[in-house]
Amino acid sequence: MKYQTIYLLAGFILLATTFWAFGHEKTGWMAPEEAKKMKNPINITKASIQKGKKIYEKKCALCHGDKGDGKGPAGAGLNPKPTNFKESHGEKMTDGEHFWKISKGKGPMPSYEKDLTADERWNVINYLNTFVKHK
Ligand code: HEC
Repeated sequence: MKYQTIYLLAGFILLATTFWAFGHEKTGWMAPEEAKKMKNPINITKASIQKGKKIYEKKCALCHGDKGDGKGPAGAGLNPKPTNFKESHGEKMTDGEHFWKISKGKGPMPSYEKDLTADERWNVINYLNTFVKHK
């Protein structure tokens, strides 16, 4: 009787960890190491942020929301949901990682490699940085 309980418990734990790992694998979107190390060549200036804001409002806000919270009108029905930059951005992800992701796209997230110049993508990243609440 006791052994049965232990086996049941062990089985359950195994199943739970498998699902957990699987779930993470599915949602994880990782940029390659060399992309993470890419430096943003455009200084964070008012002019750059202003340019980024214009692009963001035209191309990104629809999904990622005016305030970068991922709650844009076109984002609601998407799976996965558009990223909430207030939570994901900042210490955890480098500018280079964002640059790579914006260039490549994935699933509902479009690829902007051809649509935006490199400078335009960096300007958008400088604007994304304004959404982050630094502690
Ligand atoms: C059609 C909706 C849509 C538009 C338009 C869009 N995105 Fe996204 N974006 C998404 C979705 C959905 C994801 C999540 C993809 C995933 O995790 O698989 C995402 C993810 C991202 C990520 C990765 C964040 C992370 O934590 O991994 C960045 C950066 C990003 N978007 C920036 C932008 C920028 C900048 C623009 C405008 C130039 C833009 N997006 C336009 C839907 C969109």
